[in-house]
Amino acid sequence: MKKTIAVLPGDGVGPEIIDQAVKVLQKVAKIYHHEFSFEYGLIGTTAIEKTGNPLPDQTLKLCKDSDAILFGAIGDQKYDNDPSAKIRPEQGLLELRKSLALFVNIRPIFVFPTLINSSPLKAEVVKDSDFIVIRELTGGIYFGKPRMRKNHGKTAIDTSIYSESEIERIARVAFEISRKRNKNVVSIDKANVLETSRLWRETVTKTGKEYPDVELSHMFVDTASMQIIKNPQQFDVILTENMFGDILTDEASVISGSIGLLPSASIGERHALYEPIHGAYNKAAGKNTANPIAAILSVEMMLKYSFHLVKEWKCIWNAVVKTLEEGWRTKDLVAKETEKEKVIGTKEMGDKITNNI
Ligand code: IPM
Ligand code: MG
Repeated sequence: MKKTIAVLPGDGVGPEIIDQAVKVLQKVAKIYHHEFSFEYGLIGTTAIEKTGNPLPDQTLKLCKDSDAILFGAIGDQKYDNDPSAKIRPEQGLLELRKSLALFVNIRPIFVFPTLINSSPLKAEVVKDSDFIVIRELTGGIYFGKPRMRKNHGKTAIDTSIYSESEIERIARVAFEISRKRNKNVVSIDKANVLETSRLWRETVTKTGKEYPDVELSHMFVDTASMQIIKNPQQFDVILTENMFGDILTDEASVISGSIGLLPSASIGERHALYEPIHGAYNKAAGKNTANPIAAILSVEMMLKYSFHLVKEWKCIWNAVVKTLEEGWRTKDLVAKETEKEKVIGTKEMGDKITNNI
């Protein structure tokens, strides 16, 4: 198979984790005789510094012309601490999601048996947790207009908008995915307060009637944020809107033991982007300490969802499992090194996983 992959390492720890993911893809290509070519593009802070634009036209074109996009991380404290900045790195990613209409965000939450003790939650709570969050990615308060300041900057407005068709198309994805799993969808909203959530619940219920084999229930987001860490085993597929999905998936990463483990796929009709769910974590940039597993599993998702290469994605998953079973850990996964659990760097973890393929 011949594929062109747009690679956008981005900010912070992005470049070093993406290097490991590319290395893994190159190994897979070699073993299974595929030709993957990698085309690099600028995005985020690095793009602002070099071009003044967090998503340069050239990067957008590169993404449109590629078969899949691999993305690292975005953000910089310089902007986090400067609320008045008009141009912000995150705009690059948000614009890319919007321009490519990547409305489905798939975020699997899983537990590696070897890492059960990495979670601050009790082993009996996290064990066997395995669910997928389907997050709507191009609507809601992230993109609604007006978004502005009034009253000489002393009043701020954000707007959350959802249309029936936007809700229906993401609901269908959740129902379809649940059919390949345990046929159970929990839709999360705040329908006791928000109008968008009432339309959400109404539309999901209506769409759900076309999937009578799938069990559908609804939960308020505040309850869900408690249930996710209290009893995560109850979930199979979670369906939710953009902002709730953003918040709940960071919370859910605690089940896995580290946010450095979790990948995601952002998919539209024509394009797909794969990225770790974690951020740029600038403090660790260039230190060779970040966990590359989320990035490596993001390419596993690419092989699964974009290229449908079953043997290949399975071999990446197995290599990660084996490496963890051998006791190799990045810093985020262990409080203290022991005989059995050895702490290694980003590049070394990438090498171990690559060798296990
Ligand atoms: C994520 C991130 C992004 C989001 C940021 C970087 C814009 O937190 O992918 O979860 O809020 O969607
Ligand atoms: Mg997030």
